[in-house]
Amino acid sequence: MTKNRICELLNIQYPIIQAPMNWVSGAALVAAVSNAGGLGTLGPNSGADKIVEDVEITGERMREQIRKVRTFTDKPFAVNIVIGFGDAMKYSEKITRVVIEEKVPAAIVSVGRPDIYTGRLKSAGTKVLHAVSTARHAKKAEASGVDAVICEGYESGGHKGLTELTTFTLTPMVADAVKIPVVTGGGIGDARGVLAAMALGADGIYMGSRFMVTRESESHENVKKAIVQAENACTVSVNKGFMIARDLKNRFTEEFRQMHKSGASPEELTKYHAAHSQYHSQHLGEAETAEICCGQVAGLIDDIPEARKIIESIANTIQKRFEEMKNRMKGFPV
Ligand SMILES: Cc1cc2nc3c(=O)[nH]c(=O)nc-3n(C[C@H](O)[C@H](O)[C@H](O)COP(=O)(O)O)c2cc1C
Repeated sequence: MTKNRICELLNIQYPIIQAPMNWVSGAALVAAVSNAGGLGTLGPNSGADKIVEDVEITGERMREQIRKVRTFTDKPFAVNIVIGFGDAMKYSEKITRVVIEEKVPAAIVSVGRPDIYTGRLKSAGTKVLHAVSTARHAKKAEASGVDAVICEGYESGGHKGLTELTTFTLTPMVADAVKIPVVTGGGIGDARGVLAAMALGADGIYMGSRFMVTRESESHENVKKAIVQAENACTVSVNKGFMIARDLKNRFTEEFRQMHKSGASPEELTKYHAAHSQYHSQHLGEAETAEICCGQVAGLIDDIPEARKIIESIANTIQKRFEEMKNRMKGFPV
């Protein structure tokens, strides 16, 4: 079978990447996705049961997870490096060292400048995929030597820049701006989303929320159930000042936004957030009162399957969806 350039680059069967998710994407999910022919990605706090601030412990916990993935699969996988700013970069520095020492096949690098770790990772043989939210950032990442860029649209779950560009507009802008492969995410949950992403110019697709609601994900059952029950406009963007997060609507989002509106100070917001964080939802199951990062695609999610079923279902239905699309395009000279 011939492979497209993302599959070539990452040595995978399907151009489907499970996006990293804090407290959610641990070794079992990563291995399940990689074993099914996609690329699984370990996220921050994989396999963890409490919040730790110690840099060494954080890095060594990630090393344990990397080794655990290798007991479940011999297929390629990735680790997320959240670069961060200022003092927070001590964590990404340590994770980068662990990724290099453990010879992890790929790194998904987010939240920061692309020129910081790319050279070191590439010299060690790790493929570098850098997350961006504008075409300008994509060009910068390409100039820094990354192997591929990942664009995350405004529909995406989790934190992103302040640009608000949607997958529909951002993907073709980035595809026009760079020559390296483009992976796109934000709002993709099934074969229709995959086809649409590829029509927009993507070489690969990036899915977070859909993989969060699977049997192997480390997300708490209360969170998975809340997403299955959610429908229509069930997410909202929450402005954290330096970034926007997309979250499932609940009491946390209501109160946080209310505090923001009524002029709460950054310290007050940080304190409130720390007491109602993703640890509280994803690990402790406080699905109503804590933050649940989640994309708009939640409205399309109505089951909790094994992760491999998601990939199989995309692979098995894509031809049918493609034919349906061609049918709808009658009238155009295709
Ligand atoms: C629960 C959750 C946690 C996330 N945590 C991270 C993270 O730690 N690092 C990161 O780079 N992106 C993180 N993201 C963003 C995802 O990697 C990805 O961009 C997003 O899920 C894609 O959009 P989708 O949710 O519509 O599939 C997170 C997303 C979710 C839903």
